[in-house]
Amino acid sequence: MPLEEELFPSTPGKFKDRNRHVHRCFASTSTIFLWALFLIAITASYLCFRSLVDGGNQYFSKHNWSKQIFESAKIRRTHGMSVLVTGAAGFVGSHVSIALKKRGDGVVGLDNFNDYYDVSLKKARKNLLSENSVFIVEGDINDMKLLVRLFEIAKFTHVMHLAAQAGVRYAMENPNSYIHSNIAGLVTLLEVCKNVPIQPAVVWASSSSVYGLNEKVPFSESDRTDQPASLYAATKKAGEEITHTYNHIYGLSITGLRFFTVYGPWGRPDMAYFSFTRNILQGKPITIYRAKNRVDLARDFTYIDDVVKGCIGSLDTSGKSTGSGGKKRGPAPYRIFNLGNTSPVTVPMMVGMLEKNLKVKAKKNFVVMPGNGDVPFTHANITSARKAFGYKPATDLQTGLKKFVRWYLSYYGYNQGKL
Ligand SMILES: *[C@@H]1O[C@H](CO)[C@@H](O)[C@H](O)[C@H]1NC(C)=O
Ligand SMILES: *[C@@H]1O[C@H](CO)[C@@H](O)[C@H](O)[C@H]1NC(C)=O
Repeated sequence: MPLEEELFPSTPGKFKDRNRHVHRCFASTSTIFLWALFLIAITASYLCFRSLVDGGNQYFSKHNWSKQIFESAKIRRTHGMSVLVTGAAGFVGSHVSIALKKRGDGVVGLDNFNDYYDVSLKKARKNLLSENSVFIVEGDINDMKLLVRLFEIAKFTHVMHLAAQAGVRYAMENPNSYIHSNIAGLVTLLEVCKNVPIQPAVVWASSSSVYGLNEKVPFSESDRTDQPASLYAATKKAGEEITHTYNHIYGLSITGLRFFTVYGPWGRPDMAYFSFTRNILQGKPITIYRAKNRVDLARDFTYIDDVVKGCIGSLDTSGKSTGSGGKKRGPAPYRIFNLGNTSPVTVPMMVGMLEKNLKVKAKKNFVVMPGNGDVPFTHANITSARKAFGYKPATDLQTGLKKFVRWYLSYYGYNQGKL
């Protein structure tokens, strides 16, 4: 418009006087022009309305998601991958997303931001991802339409499935949330993965808890996993069987990762090392569980950076899915790896390290472990992951906790470790 105004100087009176015929002609042209504008407006609003209704997911038109998803999924290196990361606002999910993005892979996050623990921490992780150009879609893995739409826009080569209901004791309060996320959500995701024209390779988080009451140490992938000690463990074990089915019937490439007590900066507040830190800083007592006969619990604590390397190594070596549009074309890889640290540390020793880093003595209550989910010890045999992609944990608990505490104090502050 500004350009035309310049071309037609504002001398309408003169123009009209000189030639009435020309004026009438212009008038009718502008009427047609107005009508055309009107029709265009009607059509545009109809199309807009349709996309809102038909899309099933209003978010897409409302927030411009398509464009942001497309950009975030873009691969920026040769032989790179485009990865859908579920649970991307979670502890492991946020770290893996950033690591992938930094080396030039395409990443789109998906997270439902549920309130199992402090949502503000998830939002803070989301901001961190945003600073690293990773876009997170707020949605649920049970929303099949949403998943289908994401695959239409982004053509993912890999799925890093980390969304899950975690925690062993919370299952007594809310058993169905484990079924909703870890079983139903997993199946919905696998259904979409197997149906798309080019199936992605799927790497997903199982858990060391599948070893349950197994007493043979260290835990090797071939050890028995049929004695889960919690509903959480049972749903993860079920996930291993369910993913096997999708591998067998549809040719999906599957890698299941059994994580061993992952800890570090931006960690999960429901985990012991995290809540101990909070309580120690607030001068509150901490409860330390012991097995019968006063035997200390021990965990194969694994630092987040090591787990991230394990996740990325798994993605890099996953091998292709063979199926397409729900049809298998040949056998595809099915793998399971322990991702641990291979050096278990007792819980009291871990607390000692926290005390040293925080320069505060903990008030300790020792309590006999209730039989509601925890196992006495975990210890990973990581030979398989080492052979497959050179997995080699490099951070001991002392060093890792130091980094965690430094992050904790910078995030929450020394005096208000409140949450
Ligand atoms: C949506 O996309 C348009 C151009 O494609 C851009 O100008 C606009 O800023 C975007 N809006 C949001 C909310 O991102
Ligand atoms: C560790 O696992 C490998 C298989 O990956 C197995 O051959 C080896 O015997 C296991 N080591 C121990 C000490 O159980």
